[in-house]
Amino acid sequence: MEVQWFGVELPRLGPPHTAVGLIFSMLLGVWSVQGLEMFAGKIPFLQAVNGSTVLLPCTYASCIGIENLYFNWQFNDNGTMQKVCDSVIVSEGVEPDVAIYRERVEFVGKNRNNNVSILLWNITFEDGGEYICFGRNPKEKGRNHSTIFTLIVVDELRVVDNRLTIIIASAVGGAIAALMGFMLLKNFTIFVLSKIEEKNKECLVTSSGIDNTENGLSGSKADSKPTPKKK
Ligand SMILES: *[C@@H]1O[C@H](CO)[C@@H](O)[C@H](O)[C@H]1NC(C)=O
Ligand SMILES: *[C@@H]1O[C@H](CO)[C@@H](O)[C@H](O)[C@H]1NC(C)=O
Ligand SMILES: *[C@@H]1O[C@H](CO)[C@@H](O)[C@H](O)[C@H]1NC(C)=O
Ligand SMILES: *[C@@H]1O[C@H](CO)[C@@H](O)[C@H](O)[C@H]1NC(C)=O
Ligand SMILES: *[C@@H]1O[C@H](CO)[C@@H](O)[C@H](O)[C@H]1NC(C)=O
Repeated sequence: MEVQWFGVELPRLGPPHTAVGLIFSMLLGVWSVQGLEMFAGKIPFLQAVNGSTVLLPCTYASCIGIENLYFNWQFNDNGTMQKVCDSVIVSEGVEPDVAIYRERVEFVGKNRNNNVSILLWNITFEDGGEYICFGRNPKEKGRNHSTIFTLIVVDELRVVDNRLTIIIASAVGGAIAALMGFMLLKNFTIFVLSKIEEKNKECLVTSSGIDNTENGLSGSKADSKPTPKKK
């Protein structure tokens, strides 16, 4: 697949795992590469509750065809790569014999429609992290291709400690908090202004009214704050 930008073929970007490559691949959906490509789907991450069973998607595409395509899945365990499974696909459409190196892993792609996805059964918090789907097509003189899929394992209620989720959560949470803060401030200002007006007429009602509002205010703040605070 080739990406064209106003009729100009885009140059091949750096390794897909670089930040730039990731950003561009997110922006463009695909990037121009000759030969083999590995895809982890449109959304290369997933949040799942511990104990559930998840599909780690990966497909490959090659415009020059494949022959003895070697592929594997690796898990980035705190910097060291752990092989999850690997195999060789002799040719297009042939179901590979996959060796599994990690427990609770099942190969479900069966190479149907170039699908080399795996299933992760009964995930635990230790299963969270980066999974790399790697492919090498001998037809291309052993060039390496890979894509990263991130699995985020969460507790039933709250998001657990994870860089990606924290970034997302703090960005989204920050925006929501800012918006809520703004709205609260606006409402509060209006409220205070109206109360100041009222105060001139009736003092008793005003004091009880303000007490209620202050409880309401701190209550809403406590609701919106815990996520950023936990960092
Ligand atoms: C998920 O983890 C929480 C906290 O460790 C535990 O209480 C809960 O039972 C787990 N859920 C499943 C489905 O394993
Ligand atoms: C890697 O593991 C060590 C010890 O298990 C820990 O101290 C360190 O913070 C970990 N690094 C990352 C990036 O998670
Ligand atoms: C996943 O958990 C279920 C229920 O606890 C169990 O029956 C099943 O054998 C487990 N599957 C694997 C692959 O461990
Ligand atoms: C790959 O195979 C799995 C299991 O059969 C399926 O759930 C998934 O949708 C397939 N992915 C693609 C892109 O065809
Ligand atoms: C491809 O990856 C393998 C390790 O899996 C490495 O030994 C080899 O040098 C890499 N080849 C290129 C062209 O980067």
